[in-house]
Amino acid sequence: MTQDATTYIYVCRTCRPEGFAGPDEDRPGARFSHALVERTRTRMLNGRVVVKGVDCLSVCKRPCTAAVVGTAKFAYVIGDLEASEHVDDLIDFALLYADSEDGITKWRDRPEVVRKHTVARVPPFGHMLGPVVEP
Ligand code: FES
Repeated sequence: MTQDATTYIYVCRTCRPEGFAGPDEDRPGARFSHALVERTRTRMLNGRVVVKGVDCLSVCKRPCTAAVVGTAKFAYVIGDLEASEHVDDLIDFALLYADSEDGITKWRDRPEVVRKHTVARVPPFGHMLGPVVEP
């Protein structure tokens, strides 16, 4: 069985700043999601990076948020993303991630927004860095 080599960007469509009262389609998360999809089309990524929308990544206090995920790779959750500034940064990071073996990329090669606003790096299922922690 072959592994899925696609890198997925799961972007929160429902992110909004505190107090935002506009319609759902105007939420910053919705706008960021659309901008991301449009940009992946114009950059012609040949399916290497695919954008999927999700409703909440539980990082609601740091809108907008997205997760970069690949099979058998560490996953990154990134916050504080702005549609006007970070669409290409996130795609650039996803491409860097796609080229990595395990999802761990060199810190200095990551776009600044990823270096400064990564919320979590989550190991892939079954990953073992060391012994199981005993109580
Ligand atoms: S609403 Fe976007 S992370 Fe919760």
